[in-house]
Amino acid sequence: EIKKPTDIIIFGAYGDLSFRKLIPALYHLFSDGYLEEESRIISVSRQKLSRKEHIKLTKEKLSEFIEKESFSNEVFDKFKEIIHSVYVDFADNDSYKDLKKILDESSNEDRVSYLSTSPNFFGDICKSLSHWELIKPTSRVVLEKPIGKDLESAREINNEVLKYFNENQIYRIDHYLGKNTVQNILALRFANRIIMPLWDATNIDHIQITVAESVGVEGRAGYYDQYGAMRDMIQNHLMQLLCLVAMEPPCSLDANSIRDEKVKVLRSLRPITRENVAANTVRAQYSNGSINGQPVPGYLDNKDIEESLTETFAALRVDIDNWRWNGVPFYIRSGKRMEKRNSEIVIQFKDVPYSIFQNNGEPVSSNKLVITLQPEESITLSLINKVPELSENMRLEEVDLELISPSSTKRKNEAYERLLLDVVRSNPTLFMRLDEVESAWKWVDSILEAWEDNIVPMKKYAAGTNGPSAGVQLIAKDGRDWHED
Ligand code: BG6
Repeated sequence: EIKKPTDIIIFGAYGDLSFRKLIPALYHLFSDGYLEEESRIISVSRQKLSRKEHIKLTKEKLSEFIEKESFSNEVFDKFKEIIHSVYVDFADNDSYKDLKKILDESSNEDRVSYLSTSPNFFGDICKSLSHWELIKPTSRVVLEKPIGKDLESAREINNEVLKYFNENQIYRIDHYLGKNTVQNILALRFANRIIMPLWDATNIDHIQITVAESVGVEGRAGYYDQYGAMRDMIQNHLMQLLCLVAMEPPCSLDANSIRDEKVKVLRSLRPITRENVAANTVRAQYSNGSINGQPVPGYLDNKDIEESLTETFAALRVDIDNWRWNGVPFYIRSGKRMEKRNSEIVIQFKDVPYSIFQNNGEPVSSNKLVITLQPEESITLSLINKVPELSENMRLEEVDLELISPSSTKRKNEAYERLLLDVVRSNPTLFMRLDEVESAWKWVDSILEAWEDNIVPMKKYAAGTNGPSAGVQLIAKDGRDWHED
């Protein structure tokens, strides 16, 4: 691999994301030798700190956000040498002068601008980068979500950025694509012959995707209350998971081949409109409850939230109108303040065509493949097995076959490490192309519009539970259940 020295410019460097995810990821990449020595990290912020204060704060935050074993004073002393910081008021074109000075000091050809600011500033930042001639043909720009609140605002943001960068220079991040298990869906589906013939409507009954979080909105109420579960999680993370599970085999692993197939899935989603929204969607907000025995206040008890009709839980039945998936519903749900952190994809296979087993009157279950993303990664296939005993009638039970990655003893790379490294390597495969973002918004918009008209009543669920009973009903009315451990 040829490593090129790269200037990585973080706009919004003192924000939560930067300290929690970006700096730790860059530290790991540096310490594991993935960043070329001449590379630089340039922290851009509207806060004025001296170099000493900046380094001190970075060190404090790093030791807070990475595991103790990974932090070393010796590595940090080298890491700090590649860190620079500069004050810029994003909306004030003149204030970019000092940034230009720093960038001109180095001969690094490669330049990545990571926009970890409110999207309101994306246009201003790109315009000023262009004004000060800081965009070269090799430059890339990374856009953090949220990219818009709906199709229209997403288009506005993208159009602003597209005035200064070409589509192939724009890296729209969805950090779920950086998770190892998520990429493993491609390996599982397209490198295993035994999976191939089973992955369709002939053999699969339905698919479930759950992303449950036990955390609430923490310090992000101002942001979250404007967005809610649908815009914060479903439009991006869950849609991306659904695409990877449902897409056709791409003709190669290159970025556009994969993204072409994902877009086809998004375009095949059966629209949910005001006519069918009540039957196919559930929205809910958590009230007070308890998690792990600790009392938890309700969403509306948050001091930064007054009255609000923002959903903290959403569940949907999604149908994909194409040959492979005709008649196979995808049930997807995501919520905050649920019983526990758990993200999984469940592939529920159909029953055997005819069962010869009586199983003492007990139903015989059918095969299930469970891909768990969080809290631990695993892939489990449940098979039906004979109970080893001498009973007259053969009894059957479900036994799990678990796939354990041999490399799982190593420190697990965080999603942002993978994604930042891919930007440095100029590989956009795990980033969203413009048409993906727009197709996902288009589909989600019609649901949100119907919700705004209150066609689907807002339900409540107690913090620490798995959502409202309506969420259970959504799948139960089709004669199915959510998978629970
Ligand atoms: C972010 C959302 O994109 O993903 C957050 O804005 C959410 O609300 C987070 O908590 C979940 O990410 P992860 O990796 O912890 O599952």
